Amino acid sequence: MSTIDSLFVTRLYRASLSEKKPAIDTAELQASCWSIAEDDEAGQDWCEQNGYPGYTSYASLTDLPYRFPIFKDLVKCLDKHVKSFAKDLAFDLGDRPLKLEDIWINILPPGGIHTSHIHPHSVISGTTYVAVPPGASALKLEDPRLPMMMAAPPRHKDAPAELQTFRYIAPEPGDVMLWESWLRHEVPLNMAEEERISVSFNYSWS
Ligand SMILES: [Fe+2]
Repeated sequence: MSTIDSLFVTRLYRASLSEKKPAIDTAELQASCWSIAEDDEAGQDWCEQNGYPGYTSYASLTDLPYRFPIFKDLVKCLDKHVKSFAKDLAFDLGDRPLKLEDIWINILPPGGIHTSHIHPHSVISGTTYVAVPPGASALKLEDPRLPMMMAAPPRHKDAPAELQTFRYIAPEPGDVMLWESWLRHEVPLNMAEEERISVSFNYSWS
């Protein structure tokens, strides 16, 4: 009898933030994101100079958890989600746990887009979703073997999820998604009439 196995699997972790403690109030987090964005003139200038749609704190605020208690709590909660995912991935981390390296706010306006990228120098990256209005962009993930598929035929549209070349995952507010940092991903055009707000982060092993 023949067998067909799946090898070298790519894992995607999806959970509600509230599955771990401390509890994070999504409405409060959303209000904090807006107030930080409005006060962060250096960040606004950076976005304008770099043609970045909307707002990111990535280039201007490297210490959100120290400045804002809700971000401190968020990191405590994310630490637990990342620990669960690292366990699922069977990482042998020894006595050196994965640690938060960066955490930043993204406010993507209607018509905004974040092109395809990876997160170098990190082990696990992810996003928690703060505001996802109707029509807001999904997260698009790409098969990491795509650059090697010189002659591979396309897959059927209704192929099983694990065989598709691209996956679009539509988040809900309060969701957290985690993946390995080498996994290429993008945020397609935001078709919503309002801003899509998320908080992204990197965890590293050192
Ligand atoms: Fe990203």
